[in-house]
Amino acid sequence: MSQVRKILITSALPYANGPIHLGHLVEYIQTDIWSRFQKQRGNNCIYVCADDAHGTPIMLRAQSEGISPEQLIARVSEEHQRDFAGFHINFDQYHSTHSDENRHYSSYIYNQLKANNHISRKTIKQAFDPEKNMFLPDRFIKGTCPKCGADDQYGDNCEVCGATYSPTELKNPKSVVSGATPIEKDSEHLFFELGHFEPMLKDWTQGGHLQTQISNKLNEWFESGLQKWDISRDAPYFGFEIPGEENKFFYVWLDAPIGYLASFKKYCDQHGINFDDYWAKDSDAELYHFIGKDIVYFHALFFPAMLAGAGFRTPSAIFAHGFLTVDGAKMSKSRGTFIMASTYLKHLNPEYLRYYFATKLNSRIDDLDLNLDDFVQRVNSDLIGKVVNIASRCAGFVSKRFDGKLNQAWSAEAEALFQQFAEQSDAIAQLYEKREYAQAMRDIMALADKANEYIADTAPWVLAKEDGKKAELHESVSLGLNLFRVLMIYLAPVLPETAGKAREFFNEDAWNWTSANTPLKGHSIQAYQALLTRLDMTQVEKMLDDSKQTLQATPTIPAQMTAPMTETKFDPVAPEISIEDFAKIDFRIAKIVNAEAVPEANKLLKLTLNIGLGERQVFAGIKSAYEPEQLIGKLTVMVANLAPRKMRFGMSEGMVLAAGPGGKDLFILNPDDGAQPGMRVK
Ligand code: MSP
Ligand code: ZN
Repeated sequence: MSQVRKILITSALPYANGPIHLGHLVEYIQTDIWSRFQKQRGNNCIYVCADDAHGTPIMLRAQSEGISPEQLIARVSEEHQRDFAGFHINFDQYHSTHSDENRHYSSYIYNQLKANNHISRKTIKQAFDPEKNMFLPDRFIKGTCPKCGADDQYGDNCEVCGATYSPTELKNPKSVVSGATPIEKDSEHLFFELGHFEPMLKDWTQGGHLQTQISNKLNEWFESGLQKWDISRDAPYFGFEIPGEENKFFYVWLDAPIGYLASFKKYCDQHGINFDDYWAKDSDAELYHFIGKDIVYFHALFFPAMLAGAGFRTPSAIFAHGFLTVDGAKMSKSRGTFIMASTYLKHLNPEYLRYYFATKLNSRIDDLDLNLDDFVQRVNSDLIGKVVNIASRCAGFVSKRFDGKLNQAWSAEAEALFQQFAEQSDAIAQLYEKREYAQAMRDIMALADKANEYIADTAPWVLAKEDGKKAELHESVSLGLNLFRVLMIYLAPVLPETAGKAREFFNEDAWNWTSANTPLKGHSIQAYQALLTRLDMTQVEKMLDDSKQTLQATPTIPAQMTAPMTETKFDPVAPEISIEDFAKIDFRIAKIVNAEAVPEANKLLKLTLNIGLGERQVFAGIKSAYEPEQLIGKLTVMVANLAPRKMRFGMSEGMVLAAGPGGKDLFILNPDDGAQPGMRVK
């Protein structure tokens, strides 16, 4: 038997200043499916989360509502938990960053970092609102873009021309809090010396803890140097006061990830678990953080550095996902596609969305689209047409003709077909494990197709009318139901409620992953009740209408309340380039004349390339996908005019192009015969 794994997982902590919407749910559904899957496998998996309750927007929002921040976060916490429960997100612990546990760990980690000389001080100039008497984050200043002259742009970047700048460059700057013209004021801030952790972070970020798309991006950040991180904010601020300082508070992003530890600590106290088993340096537990791609910087750099600096273990992996679009576009309030979780729940079954997201989710960080027509069609054709249909076609015969009992003696053909279903158990488990849910759903639906074929072939409704076919009929519908049962066990992490009802229908107390391997023979089942109903486009349209109205009815929120809080946006899809930029790249056909492993680097191959103009040496991170011998003699495309880069092992004089998700699946572009080294690629 394989060992029970000790796993702790988290989703990012949603801000306590706004409602949960369908974009958020990508993450909570992805994590919940993984958590339920691990539990179903018999692993010990604990899923914790919390509200992210601190920061300027929350403070100001409470002020504008005339309530205290504590009142605001208490109300929002209830709303969030209600919405999550509505989508069957099954946290083992849901806490708040504004908690005693979090105050404790934030202070502790800060004090450790300070004692180890990782905290420094520096006086900085910052925009200050002279009417409100407060320092202003960049996002709370608006004015005219210094580049293109567009009005009403934020203090850090222009949404019209894309320029980034500092708020002091903005023309006509105004505080969005009071409308006053900000002045500049000095203030001493505390900084976390991220640069001290550069060697550790370089190892860690390249050590298999991150998706390839992300570790590649991080390399660029290392090249531009790690800046020290400003972790203090001046009063007034809603957060934790910094120990030993006056009127200084931890910046919300310092204590937010520590909220993972805090929430888990609360769970430990209630369940008699030893916190250190999971967080001490020598812990053998697995620790995974599910996050969106916009907050990678915090999770892949600041957080591991803070943990290491304070003597804790670092995460086993960060699992980032992409962003949700609706019908191909960013969620929009005017189109009604900015859909809140609570609005969805008034109209539609949460499991439909769970299933749809599952059909779209994989281990990569690409964005995913909720196409509403496709959504209706997928749900109806897969869940209703393929899966539930099996049960509704077979169940009636079992109750009416066989006293609610499945058959006992199986033919060899029946055994063989059942085995085909049970045999997929490991492969499907591997797909869930690797977060390749989309592929798992495709494989499960392929099995559902097989089950439906079997039923169509044996045609129980025909057998039922013929004399002397009772045994055949009994086998057909009993096997049909057994196949349905296997499918429901495989789908249980995605459809927990429907799977629960199906389990009751089969008169069973519990299902685990291996329940799929043993068929039910001679077993009594319950009368069948419809499990899911067809989805109609008009229901979706009603939801969109409701969504538009709800958003209009919400009192207009002053601009500052909607100012996003993430200050470091991260988009691993490279920024758009112009055709001129593109034309600067000199792509050439290159022949790989030699390839050898670089013993000191576990990912690199040293390639010698002939590009007609002479030979070039390139280090390429493709060792996971190719044995060096496989590459010799192959043609590929290279960027020939990339500035040479000095690496630890020698100069790299260009780059070769490869495609694929990374790891083993990386394909060197192999041009057709007829290509000659040195040819330009157009
Ligand atoms: N409070 C921070 C996280 C702190 S974690 C220590 C935050 N909150 S958030 O409410 O803005 O987002 C919570 C999670 O939802 C993030 O991982 C974010 O990437 C994700 N998403 C928010 N909008 C999303 C989409 N439209 N699509 C997919 N995920 C999205 O960031
Ligand atoms: Zn501009």
